[in-house]
Amino acid sequence: MHHFTYKNRTLHAEGVSVDKIAAEVGTPVYIYSAATIERHYKVFAAAVGVPKNRVYYAMKANSNLAVLKLLGSLGAGADTVSEGEIRKALAAGIPASRIVFSGVGKTESELAFAVDVGIYQINIETESELDLLSKVATARGKRQAAVIRVNPDVGAGGHAKITTGSSENKFGVSFDTASRIFAKAANMSGVRMLGLATHIGSQIRELSDLTAAFARMRQLTESLRADGHTIERLDLGGGLGIPYDIPEDFDHGPDLIHDYAAMVSKTFAGIDAELGFEPGRLIVGNAGILVTRALHLNPRPHTTFLVVDAAMNDLVRPAMYEAYHEVWPITQADKSAPRLNYDIVGPICESGDTFAKNRKLSETKPGDLIAIMTAGAYGATMSSTYNSRLLVPEVLVSGNQYAVVRPRPSYDDLINLDRIPSWLA
Ligand code: LLP
Repeated sequence: MHHFTYKNRTLHAEGVSVDKIAAEVGTPVYIYSAATIERHYKVFAAAVGVPKNRVYYAMKANSNLAVLKLLGSLGAGADTVSEGEIRKALAAGIPASRIVFSGVGKTESELAFAVDVGIYQINIETESELDLLSKVATARGKRQAAVIRVNPDVGAGGHAKITTGSSENKFGVSFDTASRIFAKAANMSGVRMLGLATHIGSQIRELSDLTAAFARMRQLTESLRADGHTIERLDLGGGLGIPYDIPEDFDHGPDLIHDYAAMVSKTFAGIDAELGFEPGRLIVGNAGILVTRALHLNPRPHTTFLVVDAAMNDLVRPAMYEAYHEVWPITQADKSAPRLNYDIVGPICESGDTFAKNRKLSETKPGDLIAIMTAGAYGATMSSTYNSRLLVPEVLVSGNQYAVVRPRPSYDDLINLDRIPSWLA
C-alpha cells in the first residue's frame, strides 16, 4: 500500500501533485510519502510486538534526516553500520538507547564512538572485533552490551549480491565459532554478551529460508543456554521484500508482514528473549519515487530509447542488480491510447545506464515527466556524483504539504569538494 495515486489523471504524492513539485524543485527529484512510511512502520511494529520487542529501522535504506525524524517520532530505533549513520540517527533525535551498530568492518574509532555515546547494542561479526571492542570499552571503564552475528548458512534474497546468510558470504560467524566466542566473552572485561543476531539477505518474499535460519537460531540459543550462557536478546535482522512489479491499482495488504510475525512467534515460542528487527526496504521502499523528465527520443527498429534526466548514479539498482522498477507517467493517457515500446535510459556514458527495457508506455515525448516507482529504499542512499552530476534533491510530502528535505547542491558545492595541491596551483 502506498500513497501515490492519480487524481484527475495526474500522479499525486498524497495530496500534492507531482507536476507541481517537479516544476518547483526541478528534476530529477526523489519524492517520499510520510503517510506511507508511517503506515508501514506501524503495521510492522504492531505485528512484531513492539514495545515488548524492538524495531531498529535499517537506515542504510534511506537515511534522510527527515525520514529518520519521522520514524524516530513513531518510536523506531535505528540499525546503523557506520559512525556516519550513528551520527545521523542521533542528529535526528533517535536516542542511543534505541540504536544498534552492525557491520562487518567496524574501525577502532567507530567502536569507541559507539561506546562513548552509550549505544544500545553492538552486533559483533568477528572474533577480532570482539577483542577490539573489549579493549576499547575497558579503556573507558565500560562494559558494552553486544550480540554476536551468526551465519546460519541459509542464504536468501532477491539477487546474489544481496544474499548474506550463506557460509560463502562474508557476514557473521559460524555456529561453532559463536559457541567458542560466547565462552571467551564471559571472561572479558569490556563486553556484556547478551545474545545473537542474524540477517540472511534482502528482498525476501518467501518465508521458508527465514524460517530455517530462525529455527537454527533457536537451536543455538538453547544449546548456549544449556552451557550456562545468558541469551536475552535475539536480533533477527531485516530482509522482508516488497512487490516491485505493482500495477497502478494494486493494493498489497500487510499479509507478508503478518505471516512473518506469526512464523517468528511460532519459531521462538517459549524462548523468552527480547526480539529485535531491522527492516529497511519494507518501511521505505514503496514510500518513494524518482521523478525524471524525458529529454530525447532515439528511435531504433526494435525499440525507442527514451533518454531521461535521471541516471544510474541517481538510482543504481537496475544497473547493479538488474532490478525491476515500474515506470508510471505523471500524466495518465487515455485508457484507449496505444502503448509504445521504450528502453528508458539515462545520460551516462555506459550501456548499463538503463532503468527499463522494452517497457510499454503511452506515447512519451521530450519534456514529459515519468516516475520510477518503489525508489524509496536504496535509491538516494546509493547515489553518487558519477559523471560530475549533482546529487538528486529529496522532497517529503505529508498530506497537502511538502518540504525539500535535501536541496539540490550547487555546482560550486560539487567543485569545492576537491582541492588543487599547491604545486599545481
Ligand atoms: N540488517 C542488516 C544487517 C543488513 O545488512 C540489512 C541490509 C538490513 C538489516 C536491511 O535489509 P532490508 O530490510 O532493507 O532488506 N542495496 C540492496 C539491498 C542491500 C541490503 C543490505 N543489507 C538493494 O538495493 O536491493
